[in-house]
Amino acid sequence: MTTTRSGGDHTAAHGCPAQYARLHEPVPVSGRDALWDQLRQEHGPVAPVEIEPGVRVWLLLGYQENLSVLQNPHLFTRDTRRWREVVEGRMDLSRPTFSWRPNALYADGAEHTRLRSPIVDALGKVDMAATDRTVRRIAEELVDSFIADGRADLVSEYAVHLPVLVVNSLYGLPDSYGHMLGDITRIVFDQDAERGEEGVARMHQYFSGLVNRKRNRPGPDLVSWMLQHPIGLSDNEVAHQAALINNASHMPTTHLIGNTVWTLLTDPRIRTAHTDARLSVQSLLDHVMWSNTPFQTLLGRIALQDIRIGGAQIRSGDAVLLGFAPAHRDPSVQREEDKDTGVAGGSRAHLMFGAGPHACPARELARMIAATGVTVLHERLAGLQLDVAPEQLRWHQSPFVRGLRELPVQFVPAAPRGPQKTAAAEPRTREVAVPGPDEPEDLLGKLMGWWRGLRG
Ligand code: HEM
Repeated sequence: MTTTRSGGDHTAAHGCPAQYARLHEPVPVSGRDALWDQLRQEHGPVAPVEIEPGVRVWLLLGYQENLSVLQNPHLFTRDTRRWREVVEGRMDLSRPTFSWRPNALYADGAEHTRLRSPIVDALGKVDMAATDRTVRRIAEELVDSFIADGRADLVSEYAVHLPVLVVNSLYGLPDSYGHMLGDITRIVFDQDAERGEEGVARMHQYFSGLVNRKRNRPGPDLVSWMLQHPIGLSDNEVAHQAALINNASHMPTTHLIGNTVWTLLTDPRIRTAHTDARLSVQSLLDHVMWSNTPFQTLLGRIALQDIRIGGAQIRSGDAVLLGFAPAHRDPSVQREEDKDTGVAGGSRAHLMFGAGPHACPARELARMIAATGVTVLHERLAGLQLDVAPEQLRWHQSPFVRGLRELPVQFVPAAPRGPQKTAAAEPRTREVAVPGPDEPEDLLGKLMGWWRGLRG
């Protein structure tokens, strides 16, 4: 595949760091979007960038270039162990952003199908109507935990909890385990390497314990369905795929909720269109996934051969950074925003859920969690507004994620709906459900003991 478009004609100039835009440096005052546009002007649809000091990859700025890489796994592998930096010992794959795990996300071809099929089939068995009710229950309970105060941080008190609690319910566990899993997930993705290592070990314990429990006591849940799948994954393989489901769902769904609420609070045209029912919540999510993508970039793919793409000469073993946010600004697909509502869109589908063999198998579920999450806030929090000036909001500096660190809001205080003095209200109340008499002191039960100790 050779895609050649206008713009820079360049090779992997490893000796010339001046050519590499440093994505690891603080976001420029003009914002990342201006940076993507500038890189496109300088290099065309593929630009050489640094994602850490000395760590160089090719950033795909063009829509078509992103699609081509996603849809050609025989040219670009998902197996990060093939990255030259790893092969030659300059990078290890122990961090969440640069990792390899024995799961579907990092596999290709027949192995990918073997690991992905149980995930897809298990997700296909989920009762979406019942799950929507669960999402609403959890969202309502989270709102109950802060509604009387008239103030909240909708990231730390709401958006980070909702996806993990929903996924935990799909594993067939009570909410208290979801809060534990949420804490462990946050430790894993923490920047602190030492804590991260402990988090990885605890997460392994959580999923091994979960698989063990479901092997002994199966139920109508994702893990039991994966264990029963005719493809016959081992217990360890099911544990890794269950961990993938959690890790893949957590961050993007959290930031889709956060970025959508931010959009409603800072863009009066969008808010009015949504309140007047001219803009459905699903269209609102699409607007956010076009214009304020939770993944701005995603690492990535590794070239399996020397290949010329978008004017860049990519060498076998080079890493490619998928550029969802830049692709959405590609003039070849960017549409004028709707004059009536202010909604952004494009002449093609947005790439937020990926494309090709690894495309997100849970887009319907993800959209439902985010849509119900945003709707419950809209319904329950009267007079919702930011509690700080928009320019005081802190965004993650990561080149990969676009999301808020906090979203402080105020609203008219109201009484909780109850009756739930609930497990889902734990972030505030710290009342943690203890394993009941029917919950054995197995690996998962022991982990619960550790977690309770951690929270004091
Ligand atoms: C707004 C929320 C979400 C977004 C934007 C999103 C996006 C994506 C993208 C872009 C990929 C492809 C990665 C690649 O090609 O390298 C992916 C893969 C995946 N996602 Fe999602 N996702 C979301 C929510 C979820 C949820 C809720 C689940 C499960 C409950 C989930 C499960 C997965 C899994 C298992 C994969 C790996 C598929 C494979 O490699 O074959 N995602 N997701």
